[in-house]
Amino acid sequence: MSLLVTGIGELVTNGPDGDGPLGIRHDAALVVEDGVLTWVGARRNAPACDARIDVEGRAVLPGFVDSHSHLVFAGDRAGEFSARMTGVPYDGGGIATSMAATRGAPDDELRSLVAARVEEMRRQGTTTVEIKSGYGLTVADEARALRIACEFTTETTYLGAHVVPPEWRGDRAAYVDLVAGDMLAACAPHARWIDVFCEPNSPHAFDEAESRRVLAAGVEAGLMPRVHGNQLGPGPGVRLAVEFGAASVDHCTFLGADDVAALVDAADTTVATLLPGVEFSTRSPYPDARKLIDAGVSVAIATDCNPGTCYSSSMPFMIALAVREMRMSPAEAVQAATRGGAKALRRSDIGRIEVGAKADLCVLEAPSHEHLAYRPGVPISRVLGEERWV
Ligand code: NIG
Ligand code: FE
Repeated sequence: MSLLVTGIGELVTNGPDGDGPLGIRHDAALVVEDGVLTWVGARRNAPACDARIDVEGRAVLPGFVDSHSHLVFAGDRAGEFSARMTGVPYDGGGIATSMAATRGAPDDELRSLVAARVEEMRRQGTTTVEIKSGYGLTVADEARALRIACEFTTETTYLGAHVVPPEWRGDRAAYVDLVAGDMLAACAPHARWIDVFCEPNSPHAFDEAESRRVLAAGVEAGLMPRVHGNQLGPGPGVRLAVEFGAASVDHCTFLGADDVAALVDAADTTVATLLPGVEFSTRSPYPDARKLIDAGVSVAIATDCNPGTCYSSSMPFMIALAVREMRMSPAEAVQAATRGGAKALRRSDIGRIEVGAKADLCVLEAPSHEHLAYRPGVPISRVLGEERWV
C-alpha cells in the first residue's frame, strides 16, 4: 500500500535537494511504501497513492537517531542525583547500584522496563535507538541484557567494560580477561558494537591499556568499536577511538587541541557524540561543541539515557540543551540528532529523507524545526504513522 504525505509545512531532508545544511523543502510531499520512501518531490507532482495523510502545515523531519543509550537497567538512582545537586561529584561508582538491581530483576521485568523506555522515546520522535549492556557485568547477565536489547533494536552494544564490578575489585586484570574472553564470546552473537568506558579519572572505569585490550578483542570477534571517552577529565579515549577507527567517541567533554585535531582528521570515520543531558544532570561543564563544529569535526547528539548521569529519553530536550548551553544553532542541533546519529551508527538508510531511505519520520506540532529548541519541554514531536500520536 502506498501512502502520500501532504501538507508538509517544512520538510527537513538533510540532503542536497533543499535549502541550507538541513536541505529544507517547502511545498513538498512524499510517498511511503512498505516502510520505505519511494518518492519525494513537489506537491504538485505527487503521484496517485492508495491513501493520503495531510499533516496540515506541520514540519516533518527524519526520525531522531539516538545513538547512545543504556536502557537495560532496573531501579533508579534518584538519591544519587539529589546528592549531586548538593555538590557530590559523579565518578561512576553508582553504576554498581544499578548493576545489583539489574542482576536481581527477572527477564520479564527487564523486558517491560526497556519496552516502556523505547515507547517513551518513540513518543518524542525517536525512530532508532542504540542500546548498550553494562549493568549485568557477569557473563550471563551481560548476554541477557543484549538478548533483551535485540528485541528492540539492531543497534546493540556490548559494554562489559562499563566498570569493574565490586566482586572483581581485587583483581582488575582478571575482570578485563573475562570481558575480553568468555563474556565477549557469550555476548558477541547478540551485539553489533563493542564499547568501553575509557576513563582513567574514575577508579571504577578502564585505563588506556585495559581499554585497548577490550576493543582489540571485540574487533577480533567481529564487533565494531565505539568508546566512552574524555567524560570526567582529559584522557586517552578520543585518541584510542580514532586509532581503532571507531564509529563514535562519546562525551568528549574534556578535549585537548590534539584531540580536536585527531577528530578533524578522522571526521569521515569517527563522530564526536555529545551528550548534553549528562552535563545537565551532573551539573558539569558542557563540551565545547562550537570549537568542534567550527574545526570540522563530525558531531552527533544523543541522550545517553541511563539511571546515573542522565535519566532522560528526550531527544528534543537534548536539542534544546545543545542550542542553549552548547551554542549550536537549531539547524546544527537537529542535524546532529538525525544525520549525525545515523553516521555515528554507520547507517545511510536513516537520518535523511530521500528515496530509498527508511520511512522513519518525525512530525512536529509546529511549522519548523526551530521550535524544538524554541519550545523546550513542550511535547511537540512524535513519530508519524502511529495513529495515537498523529
Ligand atoms: O555514559 N560513563 C559511563 N556510563 C554512563 C553512566 C552510567 C551510570 O552512571 O549508570 C554514561 O554517562
Ligand atoms: Fe553512556
